[in-house]
Amino acid sequence: MAKGKTSVFFCQCCGYESSKWMGQCPGCKEWNSFVEEVVDKKSVGSGGKQKSTLSEAKILPLSAIEMTQEERISTQIKELDRVLGGGIVQGSLILVGGDPGIGKSTLLLQVCKNLANQKRHVLYISGEESLQQIKIRAERIGEFEDSLRLLCETNLDIIQGIIDREKPEIVVIDSIQTMYNEEVGSAPGSVSQVRESTNTLMQIAKGRNISIFIVGHVTKEGVVAGPRVLEHMVDTVLYFEGDRHAAYRILRGVKNRFGSTNEIGVFEMRKSGLREVENPSEFMLSGRPEDASGSVVACSMEGTRPILVEVQALVCRSNFGIPRRTATGTDFNRVNLLMAVLEKRLGLKLADCDAYVNIAGGIKMNEPALDLGIVLALISSYKEKPIDERTICFGEVGLSGEIRAVSMVEQRVQEARKLGFEVCILPEVSKAAMQEMTGIKLIGIRNVKDAIDYLSR
Ligand code: TYD
Ligand code: MG
Repeated sequence: MAKGKTSVFFCQCCGYESSKWMGQCPGCKEWNSFVEEVVDKKSVGSGGKQKSTLSEAKILPLSAIEMTQEERISTQIKELDRVLGGGIVQGSLILVGGDPGIGKSTLLLQVCKNLANQKRHVLYISGEESLQQIKIRAERIGEFEDSLRLLCETNLDIIQGIIDREKPEIVVIDSIQTMYNEEVGSAPGSVSQVRESTNTLMQIAKGRNISIFIVGHVTKEGVVAGPRVLEHMVDTVLYFEGDRHAAYRILRGVKNRFGSTNEIGVFEMRKSGLREVENPSEFMLSGRPEDASGSVVACSMEGTRPILVEVQALVCRSNFGIPRRTATGTDFNRVNLLMAVLEKRLGLKLADCDAYVNIAGGIKMNEPALDLGIVLALISSYKEKPIDERTICFGEVGLSGEIRAVSMVEQRVQEARKLGFEVCILPEVSKAAMQEMTGIKLIGIRNVKDAIDYLSR
């Protein structure tokens, strides 16, 4: 081994670093995930940055720092702009993660198209597809201006040289997992390569004020391969999710230094690329069953926007000693907890029942305000009592069965009213705090007992 190089073992799932091989990662508990990588001693941890000397280091009070007006570039895709917090911030590094085939390259090519149409200088660098393949995709999407340039390259030194020469305003790197840095000995896609490459890109972005989009593939566990290491280095992390078989896709902001997180954008995959879905609630609720037990509409806030979804539950007698429970689109442990609350506080015999809970539409939601929806769906299925389809609910359920207040009540109720719902079941405290609203009947409840009473009227 060359002098100055050391061998380090990295967990390929979470980036945990160790000097020796281990069977199980202490960080993420994954088995067999350690791979040996040869790293340049200088580059480890130093981030490749030049150290400033003591005399150069300046300290300043907050008031002495000049504010520069941050300029945002609109992608002209409203859903994406909102997730980004109002557009692309110049000099920012944006990671777009998602399963292979979900539509990351398509989305970014559409962004490139819109930016090129604004006569902005865009460079699309692909390490995965040939220029012909990109051309085929581009044909489906539409007309492109010539201010979009393409490059097939995986060597970061060359990429850096080209960026210096071409001086683009926006760069897209299609997949960080294919990029490599010659100084790092390990293979492309390994933790140290991904980390070094991101570091280099970050310096390009900050040093030259270029906005860079990085595509990152997600592995089975839902982390970008190698790359939880990557999440803290970039400014913005967006995840593209959704069922590959269904038409719509959800873009979720997980981290954003320049905007609020948890904002989502909803898209639909068409023959001619991705199209924005302007009213996601309507979209999520389409195809709802009529007069079926175990189904209720609940409201969850995703960032600043209320989204209505159908919560479904199926409770049936278990044929085995251990009842089966599943939760799709929401937290499994939360469902178990809510079932325990129902069992203890209402005396429902759920222990010998199988229960399947599903958020229809393939969207993932974890807001506590969905609790009441899950509870009502479970009770409705257990008692075989359908809930009126013009009813919507939200509220957090506590361990003693109390229904607790949630935030942004008015927005939720307004969204429900806009979509034609007539009854809203909400926490009593939230109802008391909000103004009277016409066109929708508000029913405040205090605990799960009130909920079951409401259902058995
Ligand atoms: P792609 O953007 O290549 O995914 P990723 O870069 O995340 O791996 O996504 C492609 C999928 O979308 C592919 O299965 C084909 C489909 N698709 C359409 O349905 N319509 C289109 O207009 C395009 C370009 C792709
Ligand atoms: Mg791709």
